[in-house]
Amino acid sequence: MSNPFYQKDILSIKDFSKSDLSLLFSTVNKIESLEFEERTKICREKVLANLFYEGSTRTKLSFETAMLHIGGNIIGFQDTKGTAIDKGETLSDTIKVVDGYSDAIILRHPTEGAARFAAEIAEKPLINGGSGSEEHPTQAMVDLYTIIAEKKEIDGLNIALVGDLKYGRTVYSLLYGLAKYSPNIFLVAPPQLKIRNEIHNDLDNKIKMVEIDDVESIIDKLDVMYVTRIQKERVPDPAEYEKVKGSYIIDNKLVENAKDSLMILHPLPRVGEIKSEIDNTKYAKYFEQAHNGKKLRASLLSLMLNEEAI
Ligand code: CP
Repeated sequence: MSNPFYQKDILSIKDFSKSDLSLLFSTVNKIESLEFEERTKICREKVLANLFYEGSTRTKLSFETAMLHIGGNIIGFQDTKGTAIDKGETLSDTIKVVDGYSDAIILRHPTEGAARFAAEIAEKPLINGGSGSEEHPTQAMVDLYTIIAEKKEIDGLNIALVGDLKYGRTVYSLLYGLAKYSPNIFLVAPPQLKIRNEIHNDLDNKIKMVEIDDVESIIDKLDVMYVTRIQKERVPDPAEYEKVKGSYIIDNKLVENAKDSLMILHPLPRVGEIKSEIDNTKYAKYFEQAHNGKKLRASLLSLMLNEEAI
């Protein structure tokens, strides 16, 4: 099979097929089985540029550790403070310059469309590390990998997406990723934060989705519960945020009727929607999910920067 990730921009999960994702996931295990010498040859002398115009812990640090894991190097910034962007340099000029220093670029930006715009300027492949409410494709890859690693398959699973389904870019990308398989999806959100019409238009005929208001009525059916933070910074009206904050709190009482095999996932950061008492239960898989980010992103970088898959 030819490598569909080689020198390709990673802008949207929609651009990749189920078999592309299978190659990505199987490459994770191949890299992990290599000895140090072989593993660190994969991206030797390659440079990854991290351009983060918006804060990040997991995406930035997991891409960095991923690149180090396969022998590559990293440049970039976490904050525009201290860069020429604060003197007025445009995104276009920044990308043109960094393109000459690196083999791949990751861009996180608060504006929707920024990653697509930057990818048209860059000659090197560009990874969308999260752009406004639009997409976060590599988070969806991590999420799908985490579910498959635990459950072996996604078809037939009962999966609830809980919280901010309107402004959350991880949910948006994950739904399009899940639609490549055949799970049963429950969408649990307050009326103000239900999924966008665009998702209904695109996916209603492709995947089974039911919209409900509460988790309690379905908790005993669920195989996976994917909880999200209400995106305070993207809700346009602070008064609207006050109405919906704290809509869903996952605690020990809620999971009393859960299946033993329930996985609770969260892209993180959380701000109170999963109580810390859940952390030590068998259901909590969100830190493992964050750690999978390193392995999955190492696989992605290896495929993007080497024509032959491992
Ligand atoms: N899940 C995620 O994107 O986390 P960060 O904002 O910390 O990168």
